Amino acid sequence: MKVLIYGGGAREHAIAWKVNQSPLLTKLYLAKPNDGFSNLGEIIEFSGFVDLADTARQEGIDLLIVGPEDPLVNGIVDEFKKVNIPAIGPGKDWAMLEGSKAFAKKFMKDNDIPTGEYLTINKKSEIDDVLNQFSIPVVVKADGLAAGKGVFIAQSKKDAKRTIEEFLDGKFGEASKNIVVEEFLEGDEISLISLWDGETLLPMIPARDYKRLLDSDRGPNTGGMGAYCPVELKKQEQSELSEYINKLEVALKREKADFAGVIYSGLILTKDGIKILEYNMRFGDPETQPLLMHLDSDLLVLFVKAARKQLKDIKITWKNDMTLCVVVAAEGYPFSSKNGGCISNIKKIEKKHGVQVFYAGIKLDGSKLIANGGRILSICKTGDYPHQDVYKAAEELEYIYKYYRKDIAGKVGETIL
Ligand code: GLY
Repeated sequence: MKVLIYGGGAREHAIAWKVNQSPLLTKLYLAKPNDGFSNLGEIIEFSGFVDLADTARQEGIDLLIVGPEDPLVNGIVDEFKKVNIPAIGPGKDWAMLEGSKAFAKKFMKDNDIPTGEYLTINKKSEIDDVLNQFSIPVVVKADGLAAGKGVFIAQSKKDAKRTIEEFLDGKFGEASKNIVVEEFLEGDEISLISLWDGETLLPMIPARDYKRLLDSDRGPNTGGMGAYCPVELKKQEQSELSEYINKLEVALKREKADFAGVIYSGLILTKDGIKILEYNMRFGDPETQPLLMHLDSDLLVLFVKAARKQLKDIKITWKNDMTLCVVVAAEGYPFSSKNGGCISNIKKIEKKHGVQVFYAGIKLDGSKLIANGGRILSICKTGDYPHQDVYKAAEELEYIYKYYRKDIAGKVGETIL
């Protein structure tokens, strides 16, 4: 099979790394990879989705796999459908489950899926009435995509009002013309990533993502500073999770969600049971890095089964133990991260500590790897207790601006090295 992967983060590097191991693959193509993994396939340059789909048709590409949310919301899969190339990812219509928080909330409410109470606002005159119906803290979300920055937990009504006004004044352009105000939910979060073929929902093992910048879940939200899988659940939580998976499958069928792709449920384990915080219509980053290292099954086979509506009766197999992923970011992330700085010893730390590195903010300067700001790379390993090796590798990584959390998959308050 000829396969095209779209996207240039550590998530897409992990997808390319795993798809490359499949005996089904004859040729891998990459659209917008970063320089760290562009050697895994042939790069396609393109001017837009129509052009990319046309090149894919001429090359005889059999499957498109889309990493990030933006191209999904902007219709990449719709263009590939026009040239009869199947994709892993929804068209514009179902990308809305991630692209509009209000659409997702309505989907959950309509289908009796447990989630927090919410109201929407699109005029300043509605703010006081709406806020009077919530207690503090209260969550304010921009309806559209805002690169993970459109969520604010307000500790006072005054802060909530100021944030809503800023959003409505266009802080995130069109994405914050509508606002979702939501009940604040408390509990541990898990990410459940499932494959969907239009009829069957096939869940992967639960993963945990660490969204805050600083140890002990303090500091600003980020794209994710680390992750691990599987997350051990109590019996009661497991049964609530199974009930939720059934409900989601029924809901997607009822609403005729006719696409093959990935559905990421952001879940929170509250004292009143599992509730759903959000949907993403793609793999999570960084959750994908440990998930795909932990996956024993052939990922490309799973994608092909999804594209052919054949997920029913498929069993995903997993490696033993756990997989840990620590993200190394540039100092200053997530605000104004420092650019530049040579990273010289990745191959050495991979060999010495048996870790796998997936690249994100990386550029090549001749043969040198240069950091390019933001999240730079993910260091991962599978094992009974992979923490020592992953953290030793992070410690020895030669990169002047490195920053990483020291407590991923540790006990609460524990610093691992
Ligand atoms: N790790 C969260 C996300 O991918 O949106």
